[in-house]
Amino acid sequence: MTMPPFPNTRLRRLRRTPALRAMVRESSLSPADFIWPVFVMEGKDATEPVASMPGVSRTTVDRVGAAAKEAWGLGIPAICIFPYTGMDARTEDCALAWSPDNIANQAIKAIKDACPEIAVMTDIALDPYNINGHDGFVENGEIVNDRTVEALVKMALTQAECGADILGPSDMMDGRIGAIRTALENAGHSHVTILSYTAKYASAFYGPFRDAVGASSALTGDKNTYQMDVANSDEAMRLVERDLSEGADMIMVKPGMPYLDIVGRVKREFGVPTFAYQVSGEYAMMQAAAQNGWLDGEKVMLESLICFKRAGCDGILTYFAPAAAKVLNG
Ligand code: PBG
Repeated sequence: MTMPPFPNTRLRRLRRTPALRAMVRESSLSPADFIWPVFVMEGKDATEPVASMPGVSRTTVDRVGAAAKEAWGLGIPAICIFPYTGMDARTEDCALAWSPDNIANQAIKAIKDACPEIAVMTDIALDPYNINGHDGFVENGEIVNDRTVEALVKMALTQAECGADILGPSDMMDGRIGAIRTALENAGHSHVTILSYTAKYASAFYGPFRDAVGASSALTGDKNTYQMDVANSDEAMRLVERDLSEGADMIMVKPGMPYLDIVGRVKREFGVPTFAYQVSGEYAMMQAAAQNGWLDGEKVMLESLICFKRAGCDGILTYFAPAAAKVLNG
């Protein structure tokens, strides 16, 4: 379209008042856009701050139901569970990963008991249970694919049995979506949804998360042989096509803010439910700057979140979820 020339066109006319700006605003943000990631830990009636993520705490399983209720009360539709595990929980065979009694699975049950309405999302990857901190089994220094997928399927089935609504495979092994989908169908869990970490990049922005879940000291080497090269975009489209064909219901791009070009492409090219993860490093950067008085914390929080919507996201995994919901609810 060619715009009539100035002064017939004065784009500032529609920016003059809050009412006019509200009328022509193209995106909106509400608590319904959020998935809230929470860290759970062993113990009783306690929370513990995560040093590298100001404002975020780990919570014992007995308190996670109350947290879910609060989130639901704020209008947040989904909560995503990540377990904090010490070295004692980690083995070569990762057997705790598919135990119904591990703390992540206990948390699913606790949330479903306390607040059955909220959607519970999980993480599927071996890293919390792996002695070397990797998302897959390591054999002779190599992160092996197919044997890992068999373990991920066991994890998925246990999570589904514990009541999870949304499974989040975050491991980046090939073939895992199809294998999980088939296993769910065969086990009578055809209603369980998969939000695939489809375009998950090998990012340095995950640093604070690895502290939060106790993985930093366990991890040997890097995740470059399975997570995506940060320089790639076309490859992400191939992954989306593949995951959809294998049975993913929703697609995730991760990290978030530095990868909104990928979000935009996914939404434009596929038109499917598209999510992004505003990861720990993004959160930590904004919080650190706000604590120093270098940024207005509340403003950058809301600005960063609406940018996800503008880029095409249907929802955002964000540690800001409760804080942002409170502001949005007035
Ligand atoms: C692990 C996992 C990671 C995150 C979510 N699931 C870290 C990693 O891949 O090393 C990162 C989340 C964040 O940084 O907030 N499977």
